[in-house]
Amino acid sequence: MAYDSRSNSLEEHWMPFSDNRGFKKDPRLVVKAEGTHLIDHRGGRVLDGSSGLFCSPAGHCHPKIVEAVHKQMQEYTYVMPFQVGHPGSFALAERISRLTPEPINHVFFVNSGSEAVDTALKIAMAYHHARGDARSRFVSRERAYHGVNIGGVSLSGMVKNRDIFHATIPGVVMMRHTHNPEEKFIPGGHSEHRGVELANDLQRICETYGAGNIAAVFVEPVAGSTGALPPPVGYLKRLREICDQHGILLVFDEVITGFGRMGTNFAAQHYDVVPDIMTMAKALTNGSIPMGAVAVKDEIYETVTGGSPDGLTEFFHGYTYSGHPAACAAGLAMMDILEEEDLVARTHDMIPYFQDAMMSLKDHDMVNDIRVAGFMAGIEVHQGAMPGLRGTTLQKEMFWNGLSVKFTGDNAIIAPQFIMEKEHIDEIVDKFRSSLDQHEG
Ligand SMILES: Cc1ncc(COP(=O)(O)O)c(C=O)c1O
Repeated sequence: MAYDSRSNSLEEHWMPFSDNRGFKKDPRLVVKAEGTHLIDHRGGRVLDGSSGLFCSPAGHCHPKIVEAVHKQMQEYTYVMPFQVGHPGSFALAERISRLTPEPINHVFFVNSGSEAVDTALKIAMAYHHARGDARSRFVSRERAYHGVNIGGVSLSGMVKNRDIFHATIPGVVMMRHTHNPEEKFIPGGHSEHRGVELANDLQRICETYGAGNIAAVFVEPVAGSTGALPPPVGYLKRLREICDQHGILLVFDEVITGFGRMGTNFAAQHYDVVPDIMTMAKALTNGSIPMGAVAVKDEIYETVTGGSPDGLTEFFHGYTYSGHPAACAAGLAMMDILEEEDLVARTHDMIPYFQDAMMSLKDHDMVNDIRVAGFMAGIEVHQGAMPGLRGTTLQKEMFWNGLSVKFTGDNAIIAPQFIMEKEHIDEIVDKFRSSLDQHEG
């Protein structure tokens, strides 16, 4: 659809996480997309340097996905997901369980990352309840992002995301974040020290609140939205040990890291730590149709489903659109694409080149820090007149310079598509650098 500023009103749509007033004066609309590029409403080609929001690693408008969804829509467009099923959701759950570490083999479908997080909270509650264990506290982390529903906001460690939203769930305790501002530009993105020490913050919380009251600990293996903070060495393993010691469930929020971003199927495999519950979304359907999922260990599924009398509903939770046929078709096509195009191995091989390329920006005056984790980087610019203002401005300027990058605050989040070649990575670096050069303010 073409955009004509004289006849198309932009006023009525209240945009999410946006500077609505600024946008409506100077809109940036995408009217077409193909592979690695977006086409803006003025006809410019924009390289997608963040895979949308980590959503489209297999490239935009992948013909396999387009065809699969189209075909599905001709067969059936909606099936009630409560007490009735359709083959697609079972097939997709099986495909996902091939990628998750053992013994995580049961998958609950939702429609977004936020819903996945809230569902994981409820699964943890249901699991402990079924075992007759009255644990009610949750542990999250400073600088965490777990989506925007009230469960996720309750776990949020980013102040703007929770500041005025007071009606959060009680009993959430925050561990320290893992960022050390004195450690900058670390190649490989890993702090060699402090992993165990930082994870021991969970032990401190156990000793303060009583380990037996804690239901679950939520962490993003790589804290993405706060600016790509890789976990310090040994951190996730130590969290696993403490959780095991006290019967606490460990939840990895893999909404960003799932389906290849770390060069492995999930971050769990990259860091060699198996959580009890994993949340996922985004790349699951290559961003084409909204979908999320929560994958759990067999024991959790069996405990919750075994916890109620035969013939009755076991878990009072689910969405009208859980396992929607179009989303399942897109997800199944994406699973085929990951396999046939060997995208995870391809990404794994491209990671060293990508990380070096990102680090090459460290000589720029405006760059304060660069953190890399797998096929993702956070490039932090020095703050401008107000926190986040330079980042927001740069995001707009980069778009008109032909590069789409997501900024959170003053951190650019680079997350290339898995189909990108070295030339695309070089182009990201060149356009990023020239945008910084041209930036005034
Ligand atoms: C780690 C994490 N969890 C949850 C979410 C929320 O996902 P959604 O925006 O699909 O609700 C995000 C989104 O970026 C995320 O990064």
